Amino acid sequence: MLDPFVGSGTTLIAANDTNRNAAGFDLKTEYLQVCLDRLKTQNIFNTTHQLAIQDDAQNIEKYFSDESLSLIFTSPPYANLLNRSRKNKSRRDRKNDQFDKIEQYSQDPRDLGILDMNCYTTAMGNIFEKLLPKLKPKAHCVINIPDIWLDNTRITLHVSIIDEFRRRGYELRNTIIWDRTNIVNRVGIFGWPSNYITMGVTFEYLLDFWRPPHI
Ligand SMILES: C[S@@+](CC[C@H](N)C(=O)[O-])C[C@H]1O[C@@H](n2cnc3c(N)ncnc32)[C@H](O)[C@@H]1O
Repeated sequence: MLDPFVGSGTTLIAANDTNRNAAGFDLKTEYLQVCLDRLKTQNIFNTTHQLAIQDDAQNIEKYFSDESLSLIFTSPPYANLLNRSRKNKSRRDRKNDQFDKIEQYSQDPRDLGILDMNCYTTAMGNIFEKLLPKLKPKAHCVINIPDIWLDNTRITLHVSIIDEFRRRGYELRNTIIWDRTNIVNRVGIFGWPSNYITMGVTFEYLLDFWRPPHI
């Protein structure tokens, strides 16, 4: 399993739980450190390996030979969703320092979390086009993504991703709706450690693509 945007490593923990070899990539040292700390407490009798590697997702192709991956599973950045001031209720009520502040994952120009919608979609396409030959034929690539509200406009991020991935050779096989009602109402933390947002929705999409058998 490959996660090109591994963050704090949830997919690697799941891989450990399910006995899968896995590699996760991220730009940020802090997230990878969290990831490594979490992996330390995992099942030591497991015979599989989970690796957390610091690199740009644009470079991942060089780590893998063709047709070597059985699965890609990732929760990517959501364009520059976080690049705006937060006025949501949880912040207001708490009167904390984060109210009305602009936060984003980083200022790193390689970070997809600072790109506007069009640049973001193209960057995702560029990364995943290079990963397509690394998948075995019929191997799946699952992208976890929400739609978002931005300045009172509904941004259908999942539609942009489906269109872009189709252009890059992927085939959409299934769409799973992940009901997050309980998580959003009780906790509401997206990302690590403090990207505290409400997106006006309580569900996200799991876009389930595969590498078509004929290419
Ligand atoms: C939504 S978070 C992933 C959250 C993850 N599922 C978790 O459990 O923490 C997206 C991650 O993508 C990383 N990222 C953004 N641009 C990247 C790039 N070009 N290459 C690698 N990682 C990148 C960010 O640092 C961030 O950790």
